[in-house]
Amino acid sequence: MSDISEFRKYGPLRGQAQPGSKIIAIGGGKGGVGKSFVSSGLAIFLANMGHKTLLVDLDLGAANLHTYLGMGMPKNTIQSIVDDGSYDIEKVLNPSHIQNLKLVAGSNDNLDIADINTKQRSQLMRSLFYYPSDFIVLDLSAGTHNTTLDFFNMAQKHIVVTTPEPVSIENAYRFMKASFFQVLKRYEKQLDLAETVVDLMARKDELNLRCPADLLHIINQVEPEKGPALTRILSRYKFDIILNQTRTFKDNSMGHSIQSVTKKYFGVPSEYLGNVDYDNAVWQSLRKNKHLLVESPHSRIYAQLLGISRDLSNSDFIRAAG
Ligand SMILES: Nc1ncnc2c1ncn2[C@@H]1O[C@H](COP(=O)(O)OP(=O)(O)OP(=O)(O)O)[C@@H](O)[C@H]1O
Ligand SMILES: [Mg+2]
Repeated sequence: MSDISEFRKYGPLRGQAQPGSKIIAIGGGKGGVGKSFVSSGLAIFLANMGHKTLLVDLDLGAANLHTYLGMGMPKNTIQSIVDDGSYDIEKVLNPSHIQNLKLVAGSNDNLDIADINTKQRSQLMRSLFYYPSDFIVLDLSAGTHNTTLDFFNMAQKHIVVTTPEPVSIENAYRFMKASFFQVLKRYEKQLDLAETVVDLMARKDELNLRCPADLLHIINQVEPEKGPALTRILSRYKFDIILNQTRTFKDNSMGHSIQSVTKKYFGVPSEYLGNVDYDNAVWQSLRKNKHLLVESPHSRIYAQLLGISRDLSNSDFIRAAG
C-alpha cells in the first residue's frame, strides 16, 4: 500500500472526506512572532500568482488580519456564521484590495477561541475543509489551545513560525509537541494502539523514552504490525518551519538546526522553508494601512516571502482528485 493510499484510508485527521482546497496552517505557539504578517504575506503572493486564495483569521477574539490587508474591521466575521448556525463560508467572504484574495475575518472580543465548543469547532472546520478554493491560509492564535491545535492539524501544510529568540524557539517546540501528540492520539485510537501507548508512557523512565521519536521506535518493536503502520501514517505529517525577524546570517542557519532537531525529536519529516528578515518597513507600512508587500516591492523580505510562496505553490499537497 502506498503512503498516500494508507493516509487516505486512515486520514484526514478528523475522519472526514478529503477537502476541496489546499489548506495551509500557520501556527507557532508564541505571540508576536509574526504569524499574521507571514500568513498575510503568503496569501497575497499566492493570490498574485493567480491562485484563488482565502485568508482565514482564526485568532478568534484578537482578530487583526484585516489590518494587515489595509482593510477596516469587516462586518461579517466568523462569529456571525457560528452564531446563526449556518457555518456558511460564502456569507463571510470579504473581498480585499488584492485580486483573487478574500478574507474570512475573525471576530473581535466577543468570541474567544476557548468559547467555541467541540460541535461548533467541527462544523466550522468542516465548512472550511470543504470550501473549494485553490488555497486556504489559516492564521492561528498564539498558545496551544485544543481548538488551535485542531485547526493546525486539519491543514495539509503545517507551518510553524518562530523568531531566532530562545523563548520563541522553545514555544515553537512546545507547540509542535502538543500538535504531534494530538495527531498521535487520533491515530493510536484508529489503529487500536491506545492501551499500548498508555502502558509505554507509564514506563517512560524505565524505557528511557526522551522524545516522541523514541516512543514511535518502541511502538514499532512491541507492536510489529500496527507500529510500522503508525510510523508510515505519521511520516505523512510534516512540520514546515519559517524563521521570521532574522537579523544575521547566523540566525538563518538556526532555521536549519531547528529543522534537523525537529526531525530527530519527533521522528517525522520536517522542512525549513526559509527565513524572513527583520525590517522596520513592516510596522512603517502597517501604520500607513498598507501591507509591506504592496508598499515595498523592492525590499529583501519581499523576495524572501515570494520565494517561500513559490515553493508552496509548487509543492505537493494531499488532496482529493477533482
Ligand atoms: N519580519 C518582520 N520585521 C519587522 N517586524 C515584524 C516582522 N514580522 C512581524 N513584525 C511585527 O511584529 C509584530 C507582531 O507580528 P504579528 O502580528 O504578525 O505576530 P503574531 O505571531 O501574529 O502575533 P499574535 O500571536 O499576537 O497574533 C507586528 O507589530 C509586526 O509588524
Ligand atoms: Mg496574529
